Amino acid sequence: MELGTYLHDKRIIVENSLKDVFSSFKNTPGILRDAMEYMLFSNGKRIRPILAIAACEANKKPSDDLLPLACSIEMIHTYSLIHDDLPSIDNDDIRRGRPTCHKVFGDAVAILAGDALLTEAFRILSDNRYTENISPRTLKKIIFEIASAAGADGMVGGQVMDILYDGKEGTKNILNYIHLHKTTALIRASVRVGAIAGGSRASELKRFTKYAECIGLAFQIMDDILDAEGDEELVGKRLKKDTGKQTYIKHYGIVTSKIKLEQLIDEAIGSIESLGDRAKILSDLARYLGNRAT
Ligand code: IPE
Ligand code: IPE
Ligand code: MG
Ligand code: MG
Ligand code: MG
Repeated sequence: MELGTYLHDKRIIVENSLKDVFSSFKNTPGILRDAMEYMLFSNGKRIRPILAIAACEANKKPSDDLLPLACSIEMIHTYSLIHDDLPSIDNDDIRRGRPTCHKVFGDAVAILAGDALLTEAFRILSDNRYTENISPRTLKKIIFEIASAAGADGMVGGQVMDILYDGKEGTKNILNYIHLHKTTALIRASVRVGAIAGGSRASELKRFTKYAECIGLAFQIMDDILDAEGDEELVGKRLKKDTGKQTYIKHYGIVTSKIKLEQLIDEAIGSIESLGDRAKILSDLARYLGNRAT
């Protein structure tokens, strides 16, 4: 299948599944529900759930049972964006081409909407209604995978180092710590969750993991490149805002950053080559992520 069609179809499936999950917030205070909805349904690329689906399907397993789990990852990603945009973190006023959550609902509600999305993600993961077809053993592995990627030694740790080193000299090691934690960790978990749900055995899981680590780092390098020279309209964020940040552009320059990005995409594709035809969509996805303008 052509990647464009695949992305289009999967986005609709993820969107519908997120709507289904969202409809479970029945007694939520209106403003909280509105803030969560505002960010959850604002034209995100849905890359993480789609990667989970593609990794599951690379095992020739249908991904229906995985969908609520993939949605929980997207909810965690959404919370991370709401908090990332806050005045005390990146202080951004535009995301996905419209005002950031705190600009619309105020800082307090934005913080709490993020808290709610994170917490509710784990409710979904532990709610029998959504996970009854997944064995308790597999589900436990998956929850551990997601929690570790999102937590103190994962995304949150990366975010802390990102703000700690804002405006500082920094080193390539620190830069890599930040990128591998704030962004790669959740992308790695997305692919691994899909592969685990699809029944990958240890040796294949290693290949999927290597693939995910390469595209995860490449994803943040591209985010750095887009900040430096992207099209504001397409990116949907204010650009040239990373001047004090630890970015690939700062430590390697734009030319080398692009070379490194390409090398990572090649390495990602190489690491799943042995899967043959089953790797087609994941390989195409890697190429797409290496060329994205949004
Ligand atoms: C933005 O993630 C934050 C980073 C980790 C770079 P995405 O580029 O996946 O954001 P959306 O969800 O598509 O808006
Ligand atoms: C964000 O990195 C990573 C997380 C949200 C965890 P950035 O701060 O570079 O992401 P954007 O550019 O605001 O999307
Ligand atoms: Mg940030
Ligand atoms: Mg930011
Ligand atoms: Mg950025």
